Amino acid sequence: MKDGVNRQILLVEKPAGKLGPQHFRMSEAPIPEPRDGEALLRVRYISLDAANRAWMHGATYRAAVEANTVMAGGGVAEVVSSKAAGLAPGDIVFGDTGWQDYATVPARHLSKLPKIEPMTYLLSVYGIAGLTAYFGLLDVGKPKAGETVVVSAAAGSVGSIVGQIARIKGCRSIGIAGGKDKCAWLTSELGFDAAVDYKDGAVFKALKAAAPDGIDVYFDNVGGDILEACLAQMNNHGRIACCGAISQYDGAPSATGPRGVPGLIVVKRLVMQGFIVMDYMERRNEALRDLQSWVATGKLKVQEDVIEGLENTPKALIGLLAGENRGKRMIKV
Ligand SMILES: NC(=O)c1ccc[n+]([C@@H]2O[C@H](COP(=O)([O-])OP(=O)(O)OC[C@H]3O[C@@H](n4cnc5c(N)ncnc54)[C@H](OP(=O)(O)O)[C@@H]3O)[C@@H](O)[C@H]2O)c1
Repeated sequence: MKDGVNRQILLVEKPAGKLGPQHFRMSEAPIPEPRDGEALLRVRYISLDAANRAWMHGATYRAAVEANTVMAGGGVAEVVSSKAAGLAPGDIVFGDTGWQDYATVPARHLSKLPKIEPMTYLLSVYGIAGLTAYFGLLDVGKPKAGETVVVSAAAGSVGSIVGQIARIKGCRSIGIAGGKDKCAWLTSELGFDAAVDYKDGAVFKALKAAAPDGIDVYFDNVGGDILEACLAQMNNHGRIACCGAISQYDGAPSATGPRGVPGLIVVKRLVMQGFIVMDYMERRNEALRDLQSWVATGKLKVQEDVIEGLENTPKALIGLLAGENRGKRMIKV
């Protein structure tokens, strides 16, 4: 890092197909000055999320990312200077810092965070990933002890926590992930009861073997064919928590939706509900109390995948979409 310089990674072109390194460019700008109501932040860790790719398609729960702008992304940062009440140098915050060394952000768009070690937990288990897993599973999925919970992208940041919380709540926990090694890791290290390798082909059959009594809660991170296979094996009155649709992010979305919508939802009296974690922020402390106690007692294992260097951010996101990561991937800036 050079003195007085703000390195930034720009999205130079919105991808029509798969995301590649050619869609990004590193650039340099002066370190910005905060305006009234803003803080100048030194970015410490940048969160890599499958959703970064989805934002390139258009506006969602947030504005679309546009070409020739600093790539958007959540980050944990330290306040360097502040023209905002309630924020002082040294404070640690979370916000959309973007992929850069420094950012000026209005204080109203920042959450002040406690100073904990390791700081990376503020992006993983105590950050968006942990809160999404907690509220999506417990508030939307509503699992009861003894039920079968299935989660896709199970070795990823949200999924790895969902499956472990399901176990903590006394459920049978089944993960769907890509590759034998990831599946073995889910059962041997994270305590999942079973894991299904969707890259092995026969997902429907493997899922049937792993969940012989059917599925009561499906936590859907991926959509597409995996959602279709789960829908067909849901038990009556089951719940599907729609968290994301990774299978549709990196390229053009599939032309046809999963079969079974709405037919199977009607016959099986299913509840299929989408959610956005931001809607739960007022209840954040409730989740943090549980998550902290589970981590402290060793019931919840935290898996992180930290990559050094701002310049590696594009490659790290492209790799995440291809399934390189286990647990929460982030960049140490
Ligand atoms: N609703 C909300 O408020 C909210 C908040 C945060 C995240 N999300 C969503 O939650 C989901 C999980 O996010 P995350 O941050 O935990 O991602 P992540 O698991 O860290 O990374 C993505 C993983 O998805 C898997 N994957 C990639 N392409 C796939 C495909 N075509 N089919 C099946 N799996 C595929 C890959 O693992 P494999 O090796 O297993 O393929 C990859 O490691 C995403 O859909 C995200 O958008 C929603």
